[in-house]
Amino acid sequence: MIVTLTANPSLDRTVELPGALVRGAVQRAAGTTEESGGKGVNVCRALTASGVASLAVLPGADEDPVTAGLRQAGIPYLNMPITAPLRSNITLTEPDGTTTKVNAPGPSLSPVEQEALIALVVGACTPKEGSGPVSWLVLAGSLPPGVPPNFYALVAQAVRERLGTEAPLIAMDSSGPPLTGALMHGAAPDLLKPNAEELAEAAGFSNEAALEADPLLAARAAGVLRERGVGAALVTLGAKGALLVTADGSWLATRPPVQARSTVGAGDSALAGYLLAEVAGVPPAECLRQAVAHGAAAAALPGTAVPTLAQTDPGEVTVTALSIEPQGPIAGRAAAAPQKEES
Ligand SMILES: Nc1ncnc2c1ncn2[C@@H]1O[C@H](COP(=O)(O)OP(=O)(O)OP(=O)(O)O)[C@@H](O)[C@H]1O
Ligand SMILES: [Mg+2]
Repeated sequence: MIVTLTANPSLDRTVELPGALVRGAVQRAAGTTEESGGKGVNVCRALTASGVASLAVLPGADEDPVTAGLRQAGIPYLNMPITAPLRSNITLTEPDGTTTKVNAPGPSLSPVEQEALIALVVGACTPKEGSGPVSWLVLAGSLPPGVPPNFYALVAQAVRERLGTEAPLIAMDSSGPPLTGALMHGAAPDLLKPNAEELAEAAGFSNEAALEADPLLAARAAGVLRERGVGAALVTLGAKGALLVTADGSWLATRPPVQARSTVGAGDSALAGYLLAEVAGVPPAECLRQAVAHGAAAAALPGTAVPTLAQTDPGEVTVTALSIEPQGPIAGRAAAAPQKEES
C-alpha cells in the first residue's frame, strides 16, 4: 500500500486549444476535461490505473467537487473535512505540447486543521490487521496558505516518531519553500523527485538549464542533496529522461522522443512508475526505467490523463550507469535560486 498526502488538492480543468494560445484573444477550445488533482492525488490515480493499492489523504469537505471526483474515479481517499471549498487550477494545452498553468492559492488551513491532517496521515500509515504494510508515504505538491514551509518535515517527523521501525519510506515531490523547508529541518525524505528547476533551487544551483543539459552535473547536484540527508534522488529531466542517484549507484535513463500532447502530471506519473516498480521488488535501475516509461507515456496522453502499466513501453528506455567522482566546488552553484508555484 502506498499512501499519498496532498495538502493543497484541486479541481484540475484542462482546456485543449486547437492552435497556439493568443494572449488577449477569444479562442475556442477543442475539448475540456475536469478531474480531481494535486500531485499526491495524481500519483494515486496512476497507481490505481495499474492496480496498485494506494490511498490519497487530503483536506476537503465530503461534498467538495474534488472528493466527489475521487469517488467517481474510484480512487481510494481519506479526507479531513474543512468548510472552505478546495481550489480549482486551469491548464491550457497547445497542439505542440506547450502547457500554460494558472494555479489558485487554495483555502488556508488553521493550526488545528494542520494537526488533524498530520494525525490522519499517521493513522493512514499505521499497519492494520488484514491489510498489507504501508511501504511508501508520498508528500507532494504545494502547501495551502497558513501552512508553514516546514510542514512536510513535520509530517515526516510525526510519522517516523509515531511508527518507528514500522514507518513507511517517505518520498517527496514539491518546490519552492515547501521543498527547501522540508530539507532544512532535518527530516529529509528517503526519495526526492525534483525536476531540473527544483533540483537547482534545492541544491543551490543558479543554472537550471545547465542541469537539464548535463546529466553528470545534475547527478552531482543530486549528490549535494544526499549530503543533506536525502536518501535517493529521482531527477526528471523532461524529454531528456531522468536520473537516479542513490547510495549504491547512479543511473541515467533516456528514450527516443515521443509526440508530447500534455506534459502536465508527467512528473507525477514518473514517480508512480518508480514506486510501482519499487514495491514489486525491482532493482533501482529498473525502477528508474519504469519511471521514464511512465513519464513518457503520460506526456503522450492528453490533459492530466495517466497511463496504465500496459500503456508504457519500458523496453524503449535505455538505462546507463553513471560514475560520479567526488569533487570540490561545483561550477554554477549559487546561494539561492528563484522559486516557483507547484500544483
Ligand atoms: N516532452 C517529453 N517527451 C518525452 N517524455 C517526457 C516529456 N516531458 C516529460 N517526459 C517524461 O516525464 C518525466 C517527468 O517529466 P518532467 O521532468 O517534465 O516532470 P515535472 O516537471 O516534475 O512534471 P510535473 O510536475 O508537471 O508533473 C520525464 O522524466 C520523462 O520521462
Ligand atoms: Mg514535478
